[in-house]
Amino acid sequence: MPNDPSVRAPVAIVTGGAGPGIGHGITESLVSAGWSVVITDRQAERGRAFADKLTAAGAKIELVVLDVTEPGAPERTVQAALERFGRLDGLVNNVGVGLTKRVGDVTDEEFSRLFNVDFMASFRFVRAAISELCKTRGSLVNIGSVHAKLNAEKYGLYAATKAALEAFTRGVAVDYGRQGVRANIVHPGLIESPQNEALLANLVPDARAWMDDFAQKRQCIPRLAEPGEVGDLVEFLLGPKSRLITGQAIFIDGGTTSLLWNNEH
Ligand SMILES: NC(=O)c1ccc[n+]([C@@H]2O[C@H](COP(=O)([O-])OP(=O)(O)OC[C@H]3O[C@@H](n4cnc5c(N)ncnc54)[C@H](O)[C@@H]3O)[C@@H](O)[C@H]2O)c1
Repeated sequence: MPNDPSVRAPVAIVTGGAGPGIGHGITESLVSAGWSVVITDRQAERGRAFADKLTAAGAKIELVVLDVTEPGAPERTVQAALERFGRLDGLVNNVGVGLTKRVGDVTDEEFSRLFNVDFMASFRFVRAAISELCKTRGSLVNIGSVHAKLNAEKYGLYAATKAALEAFTRGVAVDYGRQGVRANIVHPGLIESPQNEALLANLVPDARAWMDDFAQKRQCIPRLAEPGEVGDLVEFLLGPKSRLITGQAIFIDGGTTSLLWNNEH
């Protein structure tokens, strides 16, 4: 694992690593720190464009186009890492989808889809990767959300899947710590990204103003997190400097989850 300084190019899988938000941020931070990265994404065109850009800049990238919920998807991804790079040191379960509906209006099918993508796929990727991570004394990071701790209207089931992911992360840390494997979860707050702005544009009259207002009123540090800042935290948690940190839920939210109110607003 990268906990061993003799490993010059550790290898990580990042699910949804081609995503224009946190996916890009994580992949770019890992590449900057010298990691080789296997990106999985269901968006072939977006994945290829991103992988080609990074490869042209000298990065070692393998793209696997798949849906993380497909049978065999995790095993295929681990196999791709071993075939291309010969080892696996890190896993980042980044893929996640949202669901904004009051709990009483959610159908079984909607909940199954949400739970399959946001929880089951992460479990299956951990299960497929764990023996390789044991060999390298590797590390894994799941991507949660502030919703695991604080809720907002219509986010009840999304919040439930992220809270389940947190408990699962602790379970992995407990089960595999003695084999040298670490597991942590990162809970981002609202991210500064064009897709969030586009998403919010469907919900509020002025998305930009809403995001700025959120940062002012709901955070101790009044600006939203950039995807690269989440990426740098993930890179820290996969790498050797965090070698005694495991089973932790770490919030990167500018203080959203610490703030009761702000006297200025
Ligand atoms: N954006 C935010 O403000 C925010 C805040 C807190 C937590 N999060 C969490 O961060 C993670 C990343 O979110 P993001 O909004 O930055 O997205 P992102 O930009 O990282 O994109 C996600 C990528 O995942 C891919 N994807 C989605 N479903 C997939 C599937 N079934 N199989 C394969 N690929 C799939 C998409 O094609 C996309 O490229 C998610 O887990 C999300 O819940 C996001």
